[in-house]
Amino acid sequence: MQDLLDRSHKPEPDGDLLAQLDSDRLPAHVAIIMDGNGRWARRRSLPRVAGHKAGIESVRMAVETCGNLGIQALTLYAFSIENWKRPRAEVTTLWRLLRVYLRKELNTLIENGVRLNPIGRLDQLPDSVRRDLDDAVRATAAGNRMVLNIAINYSGRAEIVDAFNRILENARRDGTLPSLTIDEDTINSALYTAGLPEPDLLIRTSGEMRVSNFLLWQIAYSELYVTDTLWPDFSRAELLRAFLEYQRRERRFGGLSSDSALSPAPDSSETHLVGVAHSPK
Ligand code: FPP
Repeated sequence: MQDLLDRSHKPEPDGDLLAQLDSDRLPAHVAIIMDGNGRWARRRSLPRVAGHKAGIESVRMAVETCGNLGIQALTLYAFSIENWKRPRAEVTTLWRLLRVYLRKELNTLIENGVRLNPIGRLDQLPDSVRRDLDDAVRATAAGNRMVLNIAINYSGRAEIVDAFNRILENARRDGTLPSLTIDEDTINSALYTAGLPEPDLLIRTSGEMRVSNFLLWQIAYSELYVTDTLWPDFSRAELLRAFLEYQRRERRFGGLSSDSALSPAPDSSETHLVGVAHSPK
């Protein structure tokens, strides 16, 4: 696996981390709440936007590392619907940085088979941003190694509302509204992330213990990894540490661990629950 990463990165002291990773048990979908850009800048007496600019390097690193490791989907939280409350100059800078990122990285994304999939209420974005995103989506459409979801003007609740409205709209159009019933598959296939596996791992930088309206439906069983590291300082080594921690977790999806499934329940000799799903914890 070291070879794969060395193609695009200068050697970093993380080879031992890489050696410990089990390439067969990597998360299929990684989601990241990139937080702490403002604090990173403040600690250096820089304007907040300097933190966002520095954060772009971590975006590049995360995309390259996940792409090279064969991760199927990476979802980055770049701008929430609530972020419009920020000073106008900061919002404008975020749009500029996104456009610069797209322009600079487009060829790399294409060459590496990364398909860009912006998610959120994209119709409310400034026209210039919308145009650049549309162009990048078209240019990367053939990418089949990794899907890069960038959540922009995104909110998890808005996504669920949009999904229900889409379901209703389709049913009205098809004349199936009177008999419409909705199950989890109906909702999954109406979300912005339709067709992708649910995030196995949700990473949040800068130490806040919140999910901040991100992928609310999809993260039901995600493993959470919160680090105090601020997003601009989030290195490849730290990302590999998150993967290692993920591989140490036991995922039960509401069922029982293999150990407890084999041992009898403490006060009942008749209970042998092997792989029986309990209600979610
Ligand atoms: C959170 O830090 C970060 C953001 C709201 C924006 C993230 C954007 C980028 C890294 C740049 C553009 C993105 C892409 C995908 C090219 P914060 O400002 O909330 O930090 P704070 O909590 O320390 O104030």
